[in-house]
Amino acid sequence: MSADSTTTRTKTKVKKIMPQPEAAAAPAAAPATATVNQPAAQPESPLPAVTQVNKSAARPNPARGPFPDLSIRFSGIELKNPVIAASGTFGYGIEFEDIVSLEKLGGFVSKGLSRETMPGNPPPRIFETAAGMLNSIGLQNIGARAFVEEKLPLLRKKKDVVVICNVFGYTRQDYEAVIRILNEGEGIVAYELNVSCPNTSHGGITFGSDPVLLEEVVVSAKNAAGPRPIIVKLSPNVTSIPRMAHAAENAGADAISLVNTFVAMAIDAESRKPRISNIIAGLSGPAIKPIALRMVYEAAHAVDIPVIGLGGISTAEDVIEFMLAGAAAVQVGTANYWDPCATEKIVEGVRAWCIEHRVERITDLIGGLET
Ligand SMILES: Cc1cc2nc3c(=O)[nH]c(=O)nc-3n(C[C@H](O)[C@H](O)[C@H](O)COP(=O)(O)O)c2cc1C
Repeated sequence: MSADSTTTRTKTKVKKIMPQPEAAAAPAAAPATATVNQPAAQPESPLPAVTQVNKSAARPNPARGPFPDLSIRFSGIELKNPVIAASGTFGYGIEFEDIVSLEKLGGFVSKGLSRETMPGNPPPRIFETAAGMLNSIGLQNIGARAFVEEKLPLLRKKKDVVVICNVFGYTRQDYEAVIRILNEGEGIVAYELNVSCPNTSHGGITFGSDPVLLEEVVVSAKNAAGPRPIIVKLSPNVTSIPRMAHAAENAGADAISLVNTFVAMAIDAESRKPRISNIIAGLSGPAIKPIALRMVYEAAHAVDIPVIGLGGISTAEDVIEFMLAGAAAVQVGTANYWDPCATEKIVEGVRAWCIEHRVERITDLIGGLET
């Protein structure tokens, strides 16, 4: 892609962000965003020499398959297409049933679930930035028990909806406890561990930034989960993605997903105050896409387990790029904020792209980057 088209695409992605159910307490309007300038100079590639990406980790689902075959099968998870709505941007799924045909998506990941109900941080907790969004929702959620009793039965009434539960805690025991509660619910396809949380029994260092802590929490979660697969969602706020990907794989993860949000902040020069009440927040959206893509590429070449890619995906072409980088499936997050139907539109866009490019099976694209 030329430099000019990059600029155009980036500008078109700067769109107004719509409030979502779980962001209801956030201030209504964020200021208009600036456009993004071209970087003056390109840094030399820091990438290590890479080995062949593991293409065999994901396969088409034999039960499906009209042309183009968008189905994906990995780690015991069967998806009709690779597009999954990301955690924290799609509520508990059921809130979207009137605007999105949930059964047309590859699946969705629930808002992060904890042992107990959590109220989250005070507002302001969302702020729109140049081509991105800052959030510090504070992991507000209804708790695992309420999810099983109130949301899951409604999701179960809908046919063919793939539910992945995002799980977090502040100790290994928290993760185990949440998973054991969720094990009581039927119809959950997999657990995704949010390891970007402070470990309170280790001085607040996040699980996802220390390979030893990461391995420990994955082993605990895996034991608790029984036959349900564990997807470990890596934090991008680390010096080496391959190292953390290896740690997750060594501990028995069935797949990894990346990236979570980048630690960031914004200041209002007029008031001299932080834009977010928590001061520090997480950056997401198109602004992070090139970094996320690089991390997914690195991870896919580092491990043999499937990699789910996310970070700034808002178009069908974005999905194809992540798959060429080595992702077996993708997630769409912040795009849901400016268009709640984004996931469904992206599925149709991927189908059209495959028809136009005569791609019979979407799995053929995985790791297909030509260098
Ligand atoms: C408002 C908001 C809430 C989020 N909540 C969670 C969460 O509960 N658990 C989690 O693992 N990730 C959470 N995320 C991170 C997203 O799932 C995703 O990893 C990140 O936003 C990057 O993808 P994107 O650029 O497509 O949004 C949240 C993101 C946003 C914007």
